[in-house]
Amino acid sequence: MLRVDGYVIVSADGMLANADRVMPDELKFEGDKRFFNEALDRADLIVHGRHSHEDQPNSPLRKRIIVTRAVGGVASDPSNPKATLWNPAQAPFEAACDQAGVHSGTVAIIGGPVVFDMFMDRYDTFWLSQAPKVRLPGGEPVFSGVPRHSPQEILAAHGLRAGESRLLDAAEGVVVTPWRRVPQTS
Ligand SMILES: NC(=O)c1ccc[n+]([C@@H]2O[C@H](COP(=O)([O-])OP(=O)(O)OC[C@H]3O[C@@H](n4cnc5c(N)ncnc54)[C@H](OP(=O)(O)O)[C@@H]3O)[C@@H](O)[C@H]2O)c1
Repeated sequence: MLRVDGYVIVSADGMLANADRVMPDELKFEGDKRFFNEALDRADLIVHGRHSHEDQPNSPLRKRIIVTRAVGGVASDPSNPKATLWNPAQAPFEAACDQAGVHSGTVAIIGGPVVFDMFMDRYDTFWLSQAPKVRLPGGEPVFSGVPRHSPQEILAAHGLRAGESRLLDAAEGVVVTPWRRVPQTS
């Protein structure tokens, strides 16, 4: 009933943040921000770790699940009526969706790396944006298998296949590529 989509922008070397675990300005592009914002406006639910809030004008309108070890299983967030706190070691994802009141539609997974890894075998589509001119040596890899493998190799190993890329920033060569799950043949 739930469609699961992932969204991230990474550097040429597969990093989503710098060595200080901060997403630097050099990884922020208007075209990608617009693409990401529009996607989240269409989503029914957003899932992220405590440091990966998208911080957009429409953020207060969006239902979200925040991954944290600070709760026993699932709990409402006392600071945000649209947020559910979820500890994956203590409760299944479906319990968090129940608490959020979302049973159908699209879930957008927006990071960080542990949260991306958690959903690796559930993505219907993973929207991978990449900035080919940006390198973040010693940065925070998008998935746990990076840099030993590229993000693309990891997505392919988990049954996803690249679709047609779309240009988001012509001057900087930033593109977004949808990695879609290949249907299983029996
Ligand atoms: N380039 C991009 O598109 C993009 C996308 C996403 C994020 N980012 C950036 O990447 C950085 C991500 O920061 P981060 O590595 O700290 O990741 P994060 O996932 O945003 O936050 C980590 C927190 O999430 C919770 N968490 C993580 N794993 C958990 C688990 N297995 N069980 C329960 N809770 C868990 C913990 O919260 P508690 O401490 O409450 O337990 C932990 O402190 C940020 O700078 C962000 O801006 C960039």
